[in-house]
Amino acid sequence: MKTTIYNLSKEDKNKIYKEAATIIKNGGNVVFPTETVYGLGANAYNEKAVKNIFKVKNRPQDNPLIVHISDFDMLKDVVSEVPKNAKILMEKFFPGPLTLIMKKSDKIPNVVTNGLDTVGVRMPSLKSTGEFISKCDVPIAAPSANISGRPSLTSPKHIVEELDGKVNMILLEGSSNIGVESTVLDVSENIPKLLRPGGIGIQKIEEALNMKIKGSSRDDVLKPKSPGMKYAHYRPSKKVVVLMGEEKNIIKYIQKEKKNDKIGVIGFNSLIKQIDDDIIKISLGDNEKSACNKLFSSLRELDTTDIDIIYAQGLEIKETKELDFAFMNRLLKSANSNKINTDTEV
Ligand code: TXA
Ligand code: MG
Repeated sequence: MKTTIYNLSKEDKNKIYKEAATIIKNGGNVVFPTETVYGLGANAYNEKAVKNIFKVKNRPQDNPLIVHISDFDMLKDVVSEVPKNAKILMEKFFPGPLTLIMKKSDKIPNVVTNGLDTVGVRMPSLKSTGEFISKCDVPIAAPSANISGRPSLTSPKHIVEELDGKVNMILLEGSSNIGVESTVLDVSENIPKLLRPGGIGIQKIEEALNMKIKGSSRDDVLKPKSPGMKYAHYRPSKKVVVLMGEEKNIIKYIQKEKKNDKIGVIGFNSLIKQIDDDIIKISLGDNEKSACNKLFSSLRELDTTDIDIIYAQGLEIKETKELDFAFMNRLLKSANSNKINTDTEV
């Protein structure tokens, strides 16, 4: 398939949106940027177009897609009711990195939700995402654009590598701002339930609702829950192992392992600075925000090298900050929960 690739920051946006909207109207698919990760979108009302997304991504049929809207008018056609908690959260966090699960309308075909009576709705905050959806004039069903099971796509280079020739159009606009996906929250029942930690911190949500929500404890967050979470996720082809513990112990561990395997390391700046230069290493910056931003692209970068194993520094979560749950959730999944406490190993 011929894939048309446009760079939104370099070319005439309106002309591009018009072309993209025509593809969507004709039942095609378009990869588009959002503030979280890139999405692979189709007309949410077009069953055939939605089915094709599952095919392109090789995504299991029973993992429902979320629906992206550009304004509140579109919401009326997507959900059958808006619960009180959803209203509060939408007022505060839409547009933004939050997906709310609500009762679906009859207009949304079953293929989008895998027959569930609920649908995930998100209104992205990146300006061009809103412009693109609004030009299409239909809600856009879109999962993260990566091939199923692989790390999500956040950088133009990796998007073209993975999807050129597989989709109708790719819209690029630099690297994703947040770098991990939206927070998924089920608000279809009285007490909301966290299904996936993400771009909006759980404390902010609990504060806005003035209540404790289900599934928001540290243990809960690191266990699979939403329908898609039972599958392998965010995995590069190389084995990933998460290293916990004091930096001096992580370094000792790495020195030891370096003798057995060809290794690569990703970690926070302070650790990376102390790692020998003969080891392939990538810094995640200084905090959980930069770490989320760089995680998926770093895993993909290391995947293209000839190392045998990726060691990744984990984050000890003490007092939770906005993005630390999301970071550790994605990292542990990419490692298939393979974790070593170096404080007790060395
Ligand atoms: O930031 C994001 O959310 C990105 C961008 C592109 O918007 N999208 C994204 O989509 O991450 P996806 O399909 O990779 O993840 C959506 C998650 C999946 O774990 C899915 O199982 C869950 O949301 N989900 C979707 N609809 C659901 C529903 N009706 N009930 C429960 N979980 C649902
Ligand atoms: Mg995904």
